[in-house]
Amino acid sequence: MRIQNNQNLQKKKNIITFYFENKKMEGLEGDTIASALIANGVFVFSYGRKTNRPRGYSCSTDFCDGSCQMTVDGIENVKTCSRRLEPEMKVFRKKVTHHEKL
Ligand code: FES
Repeated sequence: MRIQNNQNLQKKKNIITFYFENKKMEGLEGDTIASALIANGVFVFSYGRKTNRPRGYSCSTDFCDGSCQMTVDGIENVKTCSRRLEPEMKVFRKKVTHHEKL
């Protein structure tokens, strides 16, 4: 999901390859991890602790309680809305819940 045919966005950006839960994906130079995930159709970023309901990206400004937090290159609780995408990053949702076992 990206805006197409906008004159202000015509500048070609380099493609960055990264991995989300071991699946190879591509983002663009300048993407945050979250924007690259959304562009790849990933909308569930975490699960609520009490209810286990799927949680999406929320404030996008590094301001909320961090529903966007994921494990990035082995570092837990990285706010993906504010962290720039880098080549070969390995991104995982937080620990497996019963939802992911389905
Ligand atoms: S979406 Fe709010 S801190 Fe990332």
